[in-house]
Amino acid sequence: MSCYKNLIVFYFSGTGNAQKAAEWIVQIADSMNITTNLVNITDFEFNMLKDINSKTLIGFCSPTHGFNLPPIMLKFIYNFPNVKNADFFILNTRAGMKLHKIFLPGISGIAQILPVIYWKLKGYKVVGMQPMDLPSNWISLHPGLKEKVVMSIFKRCEKKTKNFAKKILSGQKSCKALISLPVDLIVSPVALGYYFIGRFAIAKTFIASDLCNNCGLCIKNCPVNAIEQINGRMYWTFKCESCMKCMNNCPKRAIETVHGYTFFIWWLIISVLPSFVIGKIVDNELFNVSENPFIIDIIYNSFITFIAIFNVYLSYKLLHFLLKYKFFNKIILYTSITKYKFWRRYKAPKIVI
Ligand SMILES: Cc1cc2nc3c(=O)[nH]c(=O)nc-3n(C[C@H](O)[C@H](O)[C@H](O)COP(=O)(O)O)c2cc1C
Repeated sequence: MSCYKNLIVFYFSGTGNAQKAAEWIVQIADSMNITTNLVNITDFEFNMLKDINSKTLIGFCSPTHGFNLPPIMLKFIYNFPNVKNADFFILNTRAGMKLHKIFLPGISGIAQILPVIYWKLKGYKVVGMQPMDLPSNWISLHPGLKEKVVMSIFKRCEKKTKNFAKKILSGQKSCKALISLPVDLIVSPVALGYYFIGRFAIAKTFIASDLCNNCGLCIKNCPVNAIEQINGRMYWTFKCESCMKCMNNCPKRAIETVHGYTFFIWWLIISVLPSFVIGKIVDNELFNVSENPFIIDIIYNSFITFIAIFNVYLSYKLLHFLLKYKFFNKIILYTSITKYKFWRRYKAPKIVI
């Protein structure tokens, strides 16, 4: 018997994990005769909230991106209409892995803390905070997990998610996310770095190879409309949240991360350019360095930050241009690890996204 009459679960999902977790919760609610509504946040309409009352539970399911919620989910939560009388929960899916028989968890960072503090400040009641370690989908960093591993992680997570759902739907609180609070707080500065710089840099590492037949599926399905076609080639704008939907769903397997090019540009930016500029400053005796060594530090750090941000934009424009030429195209592609057959893609099993 549940203390709730209706449940609305809002989800955002790049490769299907958060969607699957949301579906498991809805299944449990259905079995308890609770009226349910499962909503992709990109399809949200205000009238979905018209029946909200004190017997409503509202949930949010989202992947974790850079020790935080993805900006699209953060914005959704921030702009969510005031519904003080309902109860809230949040489930963030993280990068689960499996090493032999040991299941390894991901790290939430501020993905749970931020929305919960926000809801508490607004006076909302939060009844559930649950991380869920579904298979990692960050295939720019590692190949997609093997099918057997994916299935065993899924089985484990299904059970855990359903137990979480049973608990909160029967009126109990469940805040398992708090267990990892010390680690989450330690990594929280990285979340800020990712939010303000990292995500923009990562957005500019995607290209479509010559296998692309311009079917336009990636443009059509991108949840943040981040992909454009410029001069007959796909172009990832700064809007991209690296949710991995495009890369994992491309029917031609044409979308790649350009590792070699990215490392080369960052090597130029971090090692060659600053030492060149600092050398010039010292040589020209613009400052009396021995008396003001901290000036060099300040110049160096500001220079690196400025160039890093500017570089992200310029180097991607250059990349887009170079891809036109067979010679550069080949070098860029063959230094991209995702191009190789052994680099598996990832999609949550049996899900139509
Ligand atoms: C750009 C990016 C950043 C990520 N950052 C984190 C992270 O900080 N912590 C974590 O545990 N998992 C991280 N992941 C892994 C995903 O959160 C995880 O695989 C999630 O289950 C994917 O959910 P989805 O299939 O609904 O998109 C990241 C994945 C991507 C693509």
